[in-house]
Amino acid sequence: MAHFLLINGPNLALLGQREPDIYGTTTLEEIEIRLKGLAKKRGHELACFQSDAEHKLVKRIHDAHEENVDFLLFNPAAFTHSSIVLRDALLAVRLPFIEIHLSNVATREDFRQHSFFSDVAVGTIAGFGVTSYELALTAAEHYLA
Ligand code: DQA
Repeated sequence: MAHFLLINGPNLALLGQREPDIYGTTTLEEIEIRLKGLAKKRGHELACFQSDAEHKLVKRIHDAHEENVDFLLFNPAAFTHSSIVLRDALLAVRLPFIEIHLSNVATREDFRQHSFFSDVAVGTIAGFGVTSYELALTAAEHYLA
């Protein structure tokens, strides 16, 4: 049994209504319910957290370490392209994580071409919409097994 924590960054609470042509029409709540259910069915626990604030995301990452979370599933959203703070937090707690994106960031604007997380993540899953989250959970299970 593994403890997973799903963390979503800024503007992802607006999924479902936010740029649906890029991010789809599924809400974050629906994603969280689906992922919790999948994890439970496979004998794991999954907690969820979303914030638009960098310092709250840092605190949640620190707390995850204290709570003996085994693995993070993380969509840093726009912080992907800007946050040395969150990169350092992840390195500080040494928790393995997968970087998730709904959209295929490699095909988008130039400013999305750099990630502060990809080189320290176990791996990155991008471009499959909400399925990116499910693929990340499956990949994390394989990594831990
Ligand atoms: C995103 C991609 C980011 O570039 C963007 O800022 C987001 C969402 C994605 O899931 O595709 O907010 O992380």
